[in-house]
Amino acid sequence: MPYVLRPAQPADSDALAAFGVILDPPRKLIEADLFVYPSSETWLAERGGTIEAAIRLCYSSVSGQALLTDLCGAPQAVRPLASELIRIAQGRGAQTVEAAARNDDACYDALGDLGLAAYRRVVHIAWHLPAPDPGAPPEGVHVAEEVPDPDEYARLAVSAYRGTWDWLFERWGGDVAARRNFARLFESPRGERFYAARGERGVLIGFTSYGNTETVPGDFSTFGVLVRPDGRGLGVGHHLLLTAFQQLHRKGVEHAHMHTTAPSEGDPSAVRLYLASGGERVDDVTILRLKR
Ligand SMILES: CC(C)(COP(=O)(O)OP(=O)(O)OC[C@H]1O[C@@H](n2cnc3c(N)ncnc32)[C@H](O)[C@@H]1OP(=O)(O)O)[C@@H](O)C(=O)NCCC(=O)NCCS
Repeated sequence: MPYVLRPAQPADSDALAAFGVILDPPRKLIEADLFVYPSSETWLAERGGTIEAAIRLCYSSVSGQALLTDLCGAPQAVRPLASELIRIAQGRGAQTVEAAARNDDACYDALGDLGLAAYRRVVHIAWHLPAPDPGAPPEGVHVAEEVPDPDEYARLAVSAYRGTWDWLFERWGGDVAARRNFARLFESPRGERFYAARGERGVLIGFTSYGNTETVPGDFSTFGVLVRPDGRGLGVGHHLLLTAFQQLHRKGVEHAHMHTTAPSEGDPSAVRLYLASGGERVDDVTILRLKR
């Protein structure tokens, strides 16, 4: 019997829960990625009235990127579903199609068969928050909550991510487009709270933000720590991170998590800071990309 592919309905919740997918609110997105928010849907493949596979399709009109996550089911059932979703994403104008899977995931090979190849790794870090005490900020640095100035934050994001997150600049087509896209994201933050570190004459040195991931109730995430290259190594990043944790702890939140780019050779990246701040590396995910 052929597969029937359709979007999930609220009535499918139980069947999806059996796969470990929470339909509504949707489960956290791999990457905790600003760039796939907010449109995500879960699609199902049914055969003989039985749901055999489910995949979440996230599509961002900001980046033109489609991301397949939460692949569930046997590879032979996932393959036709993934193939159809790739077609749907391309029909919506997706410029890049990516999928997130673990290397030991049974579906990993099915994605390879569809022409998706691994191109970067993401690390999932989780923290249990005891009672963080950020202490005093480094000398000459002032840390406070603020509403982001989109252009100022976008400029810092471009300088901070260059070198570590080059895949993002490649995806967005260079620094100018990246700055524009970052500014758009900071213009309409998703209820995040921002904490900025400023130095002499109010110069922005770094910032962090946290928020409810709006996925699982009570599921909080920090959305990265960024410090300008000439302000690093002084403890600003560590202080910002602990400031966010302290605020979360005050709200009664006991756990936080984040997805970030995995370290490459010679580049310890932010993972080192996160582990030094009590984080635990819980998961490594491979992002695969459809070859053009
Ligand atoms: C990751 C990042 C935020 C770290 O910022 P930072 O301000 O340099 O972080 P810190 O200074 O707190 O810690 C970095 C190092 O400086 C050391 N350090 C901290 N205080 C120090 C001090 N007073 N004197 C000397 N060294 C110090 C820390 O021990 C740490 O050393 P280690 O890496 O050997 O453990 C920054 O490198 C960055 O912006 N990276 C690019 C953006 C990015 O990828 N962000 C993550 C997004 S998820």
